[in-house]
Amino acid sequence: MFTAKTLFASITLAVLSSTVLYGLQKLLSRLQIHILKTECTQSTVEETPLARSFWYIGTLDFFLNPFMFLASSITQAKGRMFSFRVLSDTVIMLRGIPGRDAFFSKGLDFMSGYRLLNPQLVDIMPIEEVKCGENGANFMATLIRTEVLEEIYLDMLSDVSRRIDGWGDEGTIDPFLNVYEIVFALSVRLSTCHEFIEDPAKVNKLMSIFERLEAGSTPTGLILPWLPTPARVGRTIAGAQLYTMISKVVRNRQQHDIRREDPLQALIDKKFPMADITRFTATTLFAAVTNTGNALCWVLIYLEVHKEWKSRVVSEIQSFVQDAGAEFTDSMEEAIGNVSLQVMDEKTPTLDLVINETIRLLFDGTFMRRNIGNDIFVGAHRIEHGAYLMFPTADLHFNEDLFPNSREFDPLRFTPEEVDKRNVKGINFLGWGAGRHICVGKRAAMLMMKLILIMLVSKLETRLVSERGESITAIPEAKLDRLFKVCQTKDKIYLDFYKRGMRF
Ligand code: HEM
Repeated sequence: MFTAKTLFASITLAVLSSTVLYGLQKLLSRLQIHILKTECTQSTVEETPLARSFWYIGTLDFFLNPFMFLASSITQAKGRMFSFRVLSDTVIMLRGIPGRDAFFSKGLDFMSGYRLLNPQLVDIMPIEEVKCGENGANFMATLIRTEVLEEIYLDMLSDVSRRIDGWGDEGTIDPFLNVYEIVFALSVRLSTCHEFIEDPAKVNKLMSIFERLEAGSTPTGLILPWLPTPARVGRTIAGAQLYTMISKVVRNRQQHDIRREDPLQALIDKKFPMADITRFTATTLFAAVTNTGNALCWVLIYLEVHKEWKSRVVSEIQSFVQDAGAEFTDSMEEAIGNVSLQVMDEKTPTLDLVINETIRLLFDGTFMRRNIGNDIFVGAHRIEHGAYLMFPTADLHFNEDLFPNSREFDPLRFTPEEVDKRNVKGINFLGWGAGRHICVGKRAAMLMMKLILIMLVSKLETRLVSERGESITAIPEAKLDRLFKVCQTKDKIYLDFYKRGMRF
């Protein structure tokens, strides 16, 4: 029987055992750090003072709130390198110009770096290897090369136009939802197959799958990876749904000898197994959507707040549309569609300036790598084989020597003359990657963003408002909740719009 005496005894035992366990954990974690220190002839990087280390988990604060942990550790370290632990692995934060030079040098691996914290593409399907390493990026680059973009450009334009028209003549949109949806649809065109693009219900289903894949892929998931949390179950189901959707199309094409020119066909032609086709498609879609959707929303926000730049953009787009032989407000698709991508780029330099400057200000996170080669040294610090490395983009993007008044929005920093002047100082802008890992999707991303901006600006008058409908005149705070992804705003923002030529 369960008496007060046995209850007391069990509680005492529980408290005692947890105290002993806690003490043991502390001792082990201290031992672990000590071993690290005594093994090396050169000094190793100190753990951040913020780190509360626990045996098995590693740095607890990182798992509680990765973004806040990294941001406050970076500030607290005052430009110095520091380390923390993710389970049994050490992650070293390189800093400043010496850190940059080491981080972007040879010998550090891109994919295995990100996979430590972002294992979503490893376990959504029941196969062992993600085939999107160095060769994967090259293959992806061939799928979205300029000739392919030239071919699908007119269809993309119609996608954008149809979706904007679908909003009606006037109203309010949530850019992080409605503009994001357009980017998602264009990315589906860019990375999947006609069968999906032609069916809006399938595009919506893919979007829901991606939301669930993302929601189930936070660093916390690394602790007890076998525990079936709702988010993890959701992610597994989403992975299976994606696999089923893609395999149905592939089987249908194979059974009926159908060929359609799109990225899926390229994968079928390569005779990849179905699981790899699904993985590769998911990877490309992730790569395409991850930054483009939210970055474009921020471009719209910066333009609304910096009206002088909005005016410049509107007149640039106006001239571009007129030079293409179309009226500014209606039926522009065909005329713009006849303009080559090269001409479009040449005629929209202000868009390039604004997009790059927005991305500079948005990138306030970290990049990741893993040292898969020999030990390397940064100053007196040894970076051991197998160590994971991070580099904070802010060490360059908000470096006053590279970008004076770095927190201010000044797109003129990106004129070719300014870029050339800055490049003498080495790698400085990380918006599209640097060194060996330049973004292979830059051209596609720029195309998607430019097409949407051109159509939005040509068709609509817009105003940025808060949830209560008040005009927003300052850049809103970002909701810092995602590693390696451009975040949304902390508070909801909206765009009030009406069709050009009409009034509210
Ligand atoms: C605004 C949109 C985008 C931004 C700001 C962006 C930014 C970046 C950055 C900064 C990197 C390098 C990361 C690092 O060094 O750790 C990168 C790499 C990459 N991006 Fe993008 N990207 C965008 C859109 C796209 C799109 C649309 C695609 C593909 C369709 C894409 C595919 C890739 C791939 C495959 C890599 C890895 C390259 C490699 O392994 O060398 N990105 N991107």
